[in-house]
Amino acid sequence: MNRLVIVSNRIPDPDERVLPAGGLAIGLTDVLRDEPSSLWFGWSGNQEDRDKEQTVHQNVCGKTVYATLDLSAKHRKGYYQRFCNAIIWPLFHYRLGLMDYHRADWESYVDVNQLFARKLLPLLRQNDTIWIHDYHLFLLGHELRKLNVTAPIGFFLHIPFPPWSLFRALPHGEDILRHLSACDIIGLQTEEDAANMNECFRRFGFPQRAAAFPIGIDPKRFAREAQEATQGDEYARLKVSLQGRPLIIGADRLDYSKGLQERLTGYEKLLTRFPEHRGRVTYLQVTPISRKEVEEYRLLRRQLDEQIGRINGMFAQFDWTPVRYLTQTVPRHILAGFYRLADVGLVTPLRDGMNLVAKEFIAAQDPERPGALVLSTLAGAAPELPEAILINPHDPDDIAEALHLAINMSSSEKKQRWQSLNSAVQASTAGNWSRTFLTELRTAHAKNTEDSAAAGQDYDS
Ligand code: F6P
Repeated sequence: MNRLVIVSNRIPDPDERVLPAGGLAIGLTDVLRDEPSSLWFGWSGNQEDRDKEQTVHQNVCGKTVYATLDLSAKHRKGYYQRFCNAIIWPLFHYRLGLMDYHRADWESYVDVNQLFARKLLPLLRQNDTIWIHDYHLFLLGHELRKLNVTAPIGFFLHIPFPPWSLFRALPHGEDILRHLSACDIIGLQTEEDAANMNECFRRFGFPQRAAAFPIGIDPKRFAREAQEATQGDEYARLKVSLQGRPLIIGADRLDYSKGLQERLTGYEKLLTRFPEHRGRVTYLQVTPISRKEVEEYRLLRRQLDEQIGRINGMFAQFDWTPVRYLTQTVPRHILAGFYRLADVGLVTPLRDGMNLVAKEFIAAQDPERPGALVLSTLAGAAPELPEAILINPHDPDDIAEALHLAINMSSSEKKQRWQSLNSAVQASTAGNWSRTFLTELRTAHAKNTEDSAAAGQDYDS
């Protein structure tokens, strides 16, 4: 039987109901429900105290085996905190000024990709299809080929890919693309990202294997969860607290790419320019803390605390708070109900691979009383959702006007827009996404194997 092997840095804990934050875990969890048999391999999130070879722990949950390894303190820092999150992440989100490169971090990144390959190898079986996810593991496909793995290997990047003019600033960029070329096919979220990567491949003379495969959710399931959540205590409590007044909702990991400060400035503008919303509208922002060991994220957290404190101090009334801010994780099935209750979904990334919150917000709506979506044009989801109220997150007036429009929008216009947004969300599901990708992967693999045989090369060299 064909088995799907997923490899990603972070994997869900099968014992917990709460998924790790981020689109990757959401998209892939939806995919695995349809797979007859699968292995999901990744980092446990834990730290191994001693710098020794780590043991792989396996945990079977339904049709999926979750296999994890711990990382040493040295690797956690050099590979995860630094090379992944202080070098690749900022650069790939077009923030070259935040990139903080040190050669030792690259060495750690290479080490961990090699470690993943060594530890995964004994778990592989004949007829496996390997699907590697995200920027933590750019080198893994090549490392597996070096260990003579001839299975189809696909790679999917969940974050944006920068244009050549930015990518060329990354030390070892050429090495990264050379390693990535060992994969049969590389998927990205948008046409723009795929074109950027192919252009970089072209500049270095590597085969151009990138194509766009926009990720989706399981919209029917999420709609059901949202509907069920309306019976829950949290939904009832939030509803009572609003006293029939409009609710704006935002839900994002605490990350500078999400445009949280820009969003708050836009909301402040709304209250300044359109004073009729004071004492009425409530903005609920759910922002689980993330990557707190990385300096830039600690700084952002302090800045958000300060900005929200200032807005609340300036506008609050004794019985009304303009911004409700939660940094704890809210389980997805409860959040689904909050989305359904909200009048406006506010999604304002400065850059985002896709942004599944935008799709979840649409799927969660009550068809008879849908809310409006305010969406950044710089989210990967924007080309698929043109009926959202599209904004430039760098312009606070644009955000304020969009919010004003959304709050005052007639229910017939909201319905009309939602119907077309919902058709788009229903059309590009997580299931379609993975099926299309895996079909293309197997076709590409057959062709690459044939081409290598014709050229008299070993496929794994
Ligand atoms: O969805 C993009 C992503 O970077 C995932 O790869 C990652 O797991 C998620 O965001 C959350 O980030 P982290 O794993 O660093 O907490």
